[in-house]
Amino acid sequence: MAALSKDVAFWSKISRKYAASPIRDMDGYLMTLERTKSHLKSEDKVLEIGCGTGSTALLIAPHVAHITATDLSLGMIEIANEKLVRESVGNVTFKVAEVLDHSSDDVSYDAVLAHNLLHLLPALDSALEYISSLIKPGGLFISKTVCAPEHGGFKYAMISKVAIPFMQAIGKAPFVDFITAETLERKMNGVGFDIVEKTDKIGMFTSRYIVARKS
Ligand SMILES: C[S@@+](CC[C@H](N)C(=O)[O-])C[C@H]1O[C@@H](n2cnc3c(N)ncnc32)[C@H](O)[C@@H]1O
Repeated sequence: MAALSKDVAFWSKISRKYAASPIRDMDGYLMTLERTKSHLKSEDKVLEIGCGTGSTALLIAPHVAHITATDLSLGMIEIANEKLVRESVGNVTFKVAEVLDHSSDDVSYDAVLAHNLLHLLPALDSALEYISSLIKPGGLFISKTVCAPEHGGFKYAMISKVAIPFMQAIGKAPFVDFITAETLERKMNGVGFDIVEKTDKIGMFTSRYIVARKS
């Protein structure tokens, strides 16, 4: 609980700076967006969790019936709502919600999106089980997650065991827990998802894009 309130404060504090920063890997972002659009249908009801400042939801909106996009941080959702007013898109709802807090929605979604989120969740196993419960049978869970490299290495150890804990101690980094892409896929299988597509980006941290279908 303390970890969560620290994260609420962290993400709200950086929300304006986050909104103003350029996307670091534009090719990767556009690839993810195109792949995601290709899996969605015009009649779909979609939920995006950890939506940040809402840019992805606004780009997905013309391709689906409705998208609800949520984030733990009020700061992020305020910026998303400012964009919504400017762009006057009719089928997007932004709201503040923690991942495990969508029970009042009373909707089963055709797809849930979680881009750059799962490595930030302290209770990943419960979150995956909960996300699965929000999706219709046959529906999709589409995620992009920063993962740990399979074989560790010195540089990875320095970042994950020294640099990040130091940044967290001074309030400059949120909670993070990197697991390997294989472990993440196994966890998804364990809560009833079949992996239908995956793509990874080569680098120190493998950002794994996974499309999983609820069986
Ligand atoms: C790295 S940003 C990614 C934002 C957006 N999905 C993107 O790809 O640009 C992570 C977002 O997840 C949100 N977040 C972190 N922990 C969360 C949680 N437990 N529940 C809901 N949102 C969370 C943060 O507030 C932040 O906006």
